[in-house]
Amino acid sequence: MQEKNGFVLRGNICYSDGSKKLVICPKSYVVCQEGICRGVYQELPKEYESYIVKDMGDALIIPGLVDLHTHAPQYAFRGLGMDLELLDWLNTHTFPEEMKYADADYAKKAYTMFVEDLKKSAVTRAVIFATLHIEGTKILMDLLEASGLDTYVGKVSMDRNALEGLQEENAEAAAKAVRQWLLETEGRYEHTKPILTPRFIPSCSDALMAELKSIQEKTGLPLQSHLSENPGEIQWVQELCPNSSSYSDAYYQAGLFGGDCPTIMAHCVWLKEEEISLIKKQGVFIAHCPQSNTNLSSGIAPVRRFLDEGLSVGLGSDVAGGYSTSVLRAMADTIQCSKLRWRLVDAKQKPVTLEEAFYMGTAGGGAFFGKVGSFLEGYEFDAVVFDDSELLHPQELSVRERLERLIYLADDRQIKSKFVKGNLIYEKNEKNS
Ligand code: GUN
Ligand code: FE
Repeated sequence: MQEKNGFVLRGNICYSDGSKKLVICPKSYVVCQEGICRGVYQELPKEYESYIVKDMGDALIIPGLVDLHTHAPQYAFRGLGMDLELLDWLNTHTFPEEMKYADADYAKKAYTMFVEDLKKSAVTRAVIFATLHIEGTKILMDLLEASGLDTYVGKVSMDRNALEGLQEENAEAAAKAVRQWLLETEGRYEHTKPILTPRFIPSCSDALMAELKSIQEKTGLPLQSHLSENPGEIQWVQELCPNSSSYSDAYYQAGLFGGDCPTIMAHCVWLKEEEISLIKKQGVFIAHCPQSNTNLSSGIAPVRRFLDEGLSVGLGSDVAGGYSTSVLRAMADTIQCSKLRWRLVDAKQKPVTLEEAFYMGTAGGGAFFGKVGSFLEGYEFDAVVFDDSELLHPQELSVRERLERLIYLADDRQIKSKFVKGNLIYEKNEKNS
């Protein structure tokens, strides 16, 4: 259903104005005009009086959530192998499962489940790894486009250290596959964009990185990868790239570390000081994935440090390192993990606040997409309406307290409806409730 021209939602509206400020507007109006937010008001301004007002009653209305790092093909094995560390988990579960996506029928079946789940969730934007398979990646992109979600999708590049059958033959073959994928998907989608996706340094030869650099120079495409996730992995990168001063430097030397092209690096748990400076200088986005970092014994990322440095940070579910697809859950995990870091690692790094966690899961990650993730004037209109009446409580709660409980207690069952760029893409009804 198109909602393009203009409409208004009425309810209890919550959004971030920067990382420190949560704006709470009980019983207010948020205006959408041609897919753009025109602000939040206690009284509806005269100029919008002709717009349809959708009264959401006592519901909570928040900006759409942003999953800055997830793996679509790993949705199928969420919850398996959670007793392993990263490298063993990759070899035992991840690579064998991703190999199955060579089969288009399997890919369609599995990706349909993933996209259905994402559509019914509070996520409106996501940055997604597919696998190295071109056909399977196109199937995923077709499904995402049909869902109305706004996403970046990466055909994964990998030419070493994986399994026979889940590895491109060499750098040239890997680069050819990226070019073919870009050619075959060019102009085909409105809401689904390609992103270059070298899996991580151990999977990509120097020659492949050079090929991707040359593709990026021609296309200007953004890039996503993994950085400094797990001690065993970091040690391996040092061995593979003896001339680099750090993991970040290995990407930087390849010319694939931010600068002119928007870049997301997932995890960033064990960065050295010089890497934090480089991330800042190059404007690299960090996808913080606290649940994955816990499950794969990776560590606790210094998010307080990232925020204080003014780095661009969003949240990632990192399915299936994370077993939960929920970005609300990622907000709660962010706070919990930061408290453990403060208690166990560094008493000078104060825990992340609710304001900051909410910001990271909305406008922080949303910045990768432009003006996304807030109801400030001029932002793209992504909104999720929650009916939290089932999260029972006998006492009076403020709207802020209700939002806080929503972050910890809600799941998809509380979602009433969801809008992306002003389009209603999901509405709970008798059939899908
Ligand atoms: N590093 C390289 N590949 C992966 C992956 O699939 N998941 C996670 N968490 N880390 C990775
Ligand atoms: Fe990941």
